[in-house]
Amino acid sequence: MEIAIDGPASAGKSTIAKLIAKQLKFIYCDTGAMYRTVTLLAKKYQIDYGNVSGILKLMDKHTIKFNNTDHGQEVLLDDENVSEEIRSEEITNNVSQVSAIKEVREKLVEMQRQLANDSNIVMDGRDIGTTVLPDAQVKIFLIASVAIRAKRRYDENITRGIKTPLKKLEDEIAARDYKDSHRKVSPLRKASDAVEVDTSDMTIEQVVSKVLEIVAENK
Ligand code: CDP
Ligand code: CDP
Repeated sequence: MEIAIDGPASAGKSTIAKLIAKQLKFIYCDTGAMYRTVTLLAKKYQIDYGNVSGILKLMDKHTIKFNNTDHGQEVLLDDENVSEEIRSEEITNNVSQVSAIKEVREKLVEMQRQLANDSNIVMDGRDIGTTVLPDAQVKIFLIASVAIRAKRRYDENITRGIKTPLKKLEDEIAARDYKDSHRKVSPLRKASDAVEVDTSDMTIEQVVSKVLEIVAENK
């Protein structure tokens, strides 16, 4: 079974997808982490984020692996755990440029489909329901207002000891949403058969129950 969860930045996709996967004993795949890891690769080797051939060469030379652990997905770049490093502000603010590269998407989509071939899966991202798993039995499109998403990111940063002005987070989220939904290849878009869930006024538990309800209806 395939469950696709898409939506804009900080809508709660990975939080919800992880909990759903745990409950159903499915594999969880965070596709955003894949695009972030390629962005980190470019940063580490000082390749410009717009240098397509440079980035593709790096992808051929280096290995990116994903492990499913009890705490969620772990990302290994050449066997080094980079799960935290890929969440930095620098990577967050440049990932949309790298994820707009057609060839990067082709390589990562192939890996994503392979993972879905092997197991029951909950996959989250921007183009899962539209492009990666168009036949997924369940498609969810999670949304929330920019103000709420920025506040969620703010609270999350505080728990990591980082204080970022709320306005800055709002601007960054809005800019990333714009880039992700206006790129040529597989832009962020709700699939015509996806169920939209506005989580603005919902707790995590309420969203999980709602998604499990939708899964039960589509089994
Ligand atoms: O968790 P957050 O919403 O901050 O972002 P993410 O899911 O980690 O995704 C990071 C970035 O990767 C997005 O802003 C997109 O540019 C890109 N992405 C994508 O293009 N396609 C996907 N299926 C997943 C992520
Ligand atoms: O993956 P995505 O970028 O869509 O979001 P995330 O990384 O799961 O971050 C969402 C943040 O909002 C987390 O800190 C959650 O604890 C919080 N949150 C949520 O996901 N859903 C709610 N209904 C309320 C809060």
